[in-house]
Amino acid sequence: MVTKPDSARVFFAAWPPPEVQRSLGDIAQRAGEAGGRAIPTRNIHLTLVFIGDVLRARVAELEALGATIVAPRFDLVVDRLEYWRHNRILWAGVEQCPSALLALVERLQEPAATAGFRIERRPYVPHVTLRRDARHAPASARIHVAWPVTEFALVESAQRERGRGYEVLRKWPLTA
Ligand code: 2AM
Repeated sequence: MVTKPDSARVFFAAWPPPEVQRSLGDIAQRAGEAGGRAIPTRNIHLTLVFIGDVLRARVAELEALGATIVAPRFDLVVDRLEYWRHNRILWAGVEQCPSALLALVERLQEPAATAGFRIERRPYVPHVTLRRDARHAPASARIHVAWPVTEFALVESAQRERGRGYEVLRKWPLTA
């Protein structure tokens, strides 16, 4: 990280295992005809709960909160490519959102909101951003990546010399 200011931009995420990240990274590269630029493979993730900028001193609270979560692991089948015109994002999503994913999101949202963090209350749409500044939807929407989600993480997003970078601050296992 270039700077360590008083505040940190953080979020809870599912961070893919290397082979899943690679598969999604390959899909991002191959979708070049949609325009824009591919997210670097090492940055590919699924946001669970976006917290935003918090005082660095409060990060420990989020770490403590993460440690209290008990939720089961689940399988995510990432099987469609989508395009959002309003923010020009090409993203990968799921036809079937597992109830365990929604339960994990709620279990994180509730204590975070109670602790005074500002949590978005829009319905959760799982999305994995693959390209930014894309110009249109991809030619084919069909993909298939099986992602066993066995852990979740607290992640910091920071501006680095070469674009935005992510640092996994803490990881916790989901239950078997
Ligand atoms: P994006 O990929 O669609 O930009 C780190 O910025 C992560 O948090 C990214 O997955 C990003 O989604 C997501 N994110 C950024 N701002 C957000 C917001 N206001 N609400 C929800 N998610 C956000």
